[in-house]
Amino acid sequence: MQGRDLAAVAALDAAALVVNHGFVPLISAARVDRWFARRYWAGRLHRPDWPTFVADGGGQLLGALSVDLNRARNRHMPVRRWIYLHSLFVLPAARRRGVARALIRHAMRWAQRRGVGGAELGMAATNRSARSLYESFGFRVQEVTMARRLPQLR
Ligand SMILES: CC(C)(COP(=O)(O)OP(=O)(O)OC[C@H]1O[C@@H](n2cnc3c(N)ncnc32)[C@H](O)[C@@H]1OP(=O)(O)O)[C@@H](O)C(=O)NCCC(=O)NCCS
Repeated sequence: MQGRDLAAVAALDAAALVVNHGFVPLISAARVDRWFARRYWAGRLHRPDWPTFVADGGGQLLGALSVDLNRARNRHMPVRRWIYLHSLFVLPAARRRGVARALIRHAMRWAQRRGVGGAELGMAATNRSARSLYESFGFRVQEVTMARRLPQLR
């Protein structure tokens, strides 16, 4: 992602948030705080270890995927560094043409060239297309996140 992609990436992420809210309504946002989103994406531009990869289809951004490169804080971790994949979204009109697959493959190669030892991601349990996509890359469920709403005390 470069500066010129900022608005398009923020728009894709906004669409992704709405989709994610459909899958995880309990604790995820239904709408985007534009000011926060712009600050977040602009901040990432200055972090070479947090790249956002974009798929460009003749001047239009078709999809994006972000990566956070993390370092182990405990010397007993089996890998010294790992990536966290997030904010994957492909425009509905561009789906089922291998865009997400290409973005993930690119992100994994980017990490492997840097000697990264593992990859992790989180996804909604009911998102079947994402699950089949990630499983085709060898990802397997390792943890389960549980959530509930807490009633307010008065
Ligand atoms: C999930 C998503 C990123 C897939 O993008 P895409 O570019 O259409 O995916 P690809 O064309 O690269 O498909 C790769 C594989 O993913 C799986 N897949 C993608 N869409 C699928 C669908 N609708 N149903 C079932 N499997 C699907 C298939 O295994 C597919 O391989 P195949 O085409 O050989 O069968 C896209 O549907 C999307 O943006 N969804 C909304 C946001 C989202 O859910 N993001 C993931 C958050 S964790």
